[in-house]
Amino acid sequence: MKLFDVYPRWQIEPVKAQGCKIYDKEGVEYLDFYGGHAVISIGHSHPYYVEAITKQLNRIGFYSNAVLNSLQDEYAEKLGALSGYPDYSLFMVNSGAEANENALKLASFHNARKKVAAFRHSFHGRTDAAVQTTDNLKYKAPVNKNIDVVFLPLDNIESVKETLLQGDISSVIIEGIQGVGGIRVPEASFLQELSKICNETDTVLILDEVQSGYGRSGQFFAHQYAGIRPDIITIAKGMGNGFPVSGILIAPKFEAVHGQLGTTFGGNQLACAAAIAVADVIKAENLVENAAKVGAFLMEELEKLRQVKEVRGRGLMIGVEFAEPIKSMRDKLLFEEKVFTGITGTHVFRLLPPLCVTMDEAEEFLRRFRKIINT
Ligand SMILES: Cc1ncc(COP(=O)(O)O)c(C=O)c1O
Repeated sequence: MKLFDVYPRWQIEPVKAQGCKIYDKEGVEYLDFYGGHAVISIGHSHPYYVEAITKQLNRIGFYSNAVLNSLQDEYAEKLGALSGYPDYSLFMVNSGAEANENALKLASFHNARKKVAAFRHSFHGRTDAAVQTTDNLKYKAPVNKNIDVVFLPLDNIESVKETLLQGDISSVIIEGIQGVGGIRVPEASFLQELSKICNETDTVLILDEVQSGYGRSGQFFAHQYAGIRPDIITIAKGMGNGFPVSGILIAPKFEAVHGQLGTTFGGNQLACAAAIAVADVIKAENLVENAAKVGAFLMEELEKLRQVKEVRGRGLMIGVEFAEPIKSMRDKLLFEEKVFTGITGTHVFRLLPPLCVTMDEAEEFLRRFRKIINT
């Protein structure tokens, strides 16, 4: 059997990784400023994480949600304290798209409405409702066209008001920081007004923190810079440091109804062991604070580069925009300077290193980055 060829891939095969370093088959070392697409939070192969998962696997790896699983309760309690949402409830699933899918569904169960508002340049995943709220026609098949979704301009509160005041929007879904859309940070005042209008119109506010959450922005959630409290928050990527696990944080006003949501794999014992270990390490090693500190340093230094058109983002979610296409620079950075980075579109580097990245590694990244933009 061959693989279904949907990914353009680099001719590099990582076989080992530690902290912010990746090693290929030939033993070549790479600096990881991509985090496997914002997934690696506490660093590759963290010993505490490896031990926790190994121990759990030797006890019990999986059983369905038909039985008690106190690891879910333990995780929910730790997550509540770490995130600042101890009064919210947790529902665990397996991927970012699935988290958004369940959030959109729960909102619709809650207020019995059908329409959804999302934002231009949004990305919320590939499952049905998630992809319909994603602003990219290329990802939508004819079967993904039954939800009435209105795409609004980011930071334009008037268009939000006009849409929500009609009273038929079930939920508004918005990323804490738009990732795929080019590292766009919504204005704090916009988020505050949005939250207010959602409350006034009984519209559910869903904060997609799949990429911008879990400490990446330098706060546990990017929306916390605006001081708002959304109705539902979705999490994935950094939550499992590579173990596929995701979840939705649900405000107290939602009623849990048996059978309304469900999953076979979500919240299994192994996934919980991974998520608990990640939460423990984030707390013990002050990784949210580290993301804020190293991120601020990186942004400050990147802004000094005359070749750079704009630096955007927060913490360790940084977009570096150039006036010209960056493909050749990115290739040089990867193949000559041995640095993994992400991109968005054709002109923007997306830096998403593990949250444990050190100041020395940040300096090293900058040294290599300066070299390729000067050649
Ligand atoms: C903001 C956001 N939401 C949702 C998703 C989808 O997550 P997954 O690929 O785990 O389904 C992504 C993935 O990049 C994302 O960046």
